[in-house]
Amino acid sequence: MKKNVTSALELAKTAVLRIVTRTLCYSLWLSQELSKSIATGRQMKKTFFSLLPLVLLLALPARSLDNGLAKTPPMGWNSWNKFACNVSEDLIKSEADAVVSSGMRDAGYQYVVIDDCWQVARDQNGNIQPDPQRFPHGMKALADYVHSKGLKFGIYSDAGTQTCQKRPGSRGYEFQDARQYAAWGIDYLKYDWCNHSTQDSAASYSIMRDALLASGRPIVFSLCEWGSTKPWLWARDVGNLWRSGGDIGDVWESPKEGLGIVNILDHNAELYSFAGPGHWNDPDMLEVGNGGMSNVEYRSHFSLWAILAAPLMAGNDLRNMAPDIREILTNKEVIAVDQDALGEQGRRVAKNGDLEVWSRALNDGSRAVVLLNRGKDTAQIEADWKQIGFPEHLRAAVRDLWEHRDLGEFTEKFSASVPSHGVVMVTVRP
Ligand code: GAL
Repeated sequence: MKKNVTSALELAKTAVLRIVTRTLCYSLWLSQELSKSIATGRQMKKTFFSLLPLVLLLALPARSLDNGLAKTPPMGWNSWNKFACNVSEDLIKSEADAVVSSGMRDAGYQYVVIDDCWQVARDQNGNIQPDPQRFPHGMKALADYVHSKGLKFGIYSDAGTQTCQKRPGSRGYEFQDARQYAAWGIDYLKYDWCNHSTQDSAASYSIMRDALLASGRPIVFSLCEWGSTKPWLWARDVGNLWRSGGDIGDVWESPKEGLGIVNILDHNAELYSFAGPGHWNDPDMLEVGNGGMSNVEYRSHFSLWAILAAPLMAGNDLRNMAPDIREILTNKEVIAVDQDALGEQGRRVAKNGDLEVWSRALNDGSRAVVLLNRGKDTAQIEADWKQIGFPEHLRAAVRDLWEHRDLGEFTEKFSASVPSHGVVMVTVRP
């Protein structure tokens, strides 16, 4: 609660500061313009005050994104975590096929996104060129193919002069690139922050926001500045999602901050008040199925991302998934929590050493609850009704979302045995 109030205050402070600064700037500009006129002092004063409402209007926050997209966290597949620069038209087509044949499309996965390295140069007119060897039929044909599968197509660029892998970035070409993406049929843009030089992040990302809006095509805008300038404070009007931290690793806990699942979790725990329909914290793409963690850990990773209302972008090779990995990624009951229409990011409501309780309010008045065991040994974890915002004596039905089983009705609390690095995920429905 205290943290919620603190972040709301921080947000309000930023907004007020921005409005005050803009008002001062516009007032200064107006008085300078008036002083250039031949009007008398009194006439100038009158004009100044009659134009003041206009000044205030101008000073209000700039255009908001409001593209009507990502009302629930985007779901899809992205090439980076598994394939890095090794992308091609054949790979993307076969992964799109696998989104359909694996049942992932039916489970809600929609966007097939090519990350870095699809682009090689600009032509003499400044048009961005895909790698002709790897994408011989070009991006329009690939977009058409992905669309023919009932899916949407996404692409990657960078706000700087070059992408992180030293391909041409969009700086100075924002409107030209956005027009090109729209002509190709792009539905999603991930926009990175390498080689940005001295640019201001909010100003720079707003240029691409405006360019995408001007393109006339609805394009989800995914910001990726690694949380470096606290995008949760300014990006609500700029993008549909923003990366809240550094790159994820296929690891439970890392010595380096931000890479392990639990490190990312701790960072995102503080950011719940900034997420909502159309604008999401993005703790990074999924590592489920990439081989570095156990299936118990992958289940926890997926459950925690769902409790966080995180975008669910699979990052594994979908063409040869083991059945238990497919089962994790297509668990419709867990996905339903992630995609809940209320769009409230869950919170850590209790912590006792390595044992934690996370809770998320759902649209129908129930709660999704994750009991998380970060420790080395199996442990009993208890969620009590008061922690999850229910009256103590309420009778509520508990359902296990991994066992797909109703566990009965409970009052006051629910407890379960949770394996090391594992979760028990339930809904609690009054
Ligand atoms: C990083 C980004 C990764 C990936 C990579 C591509 O900045 O965080 O998700 O897009 O660039 O070079």
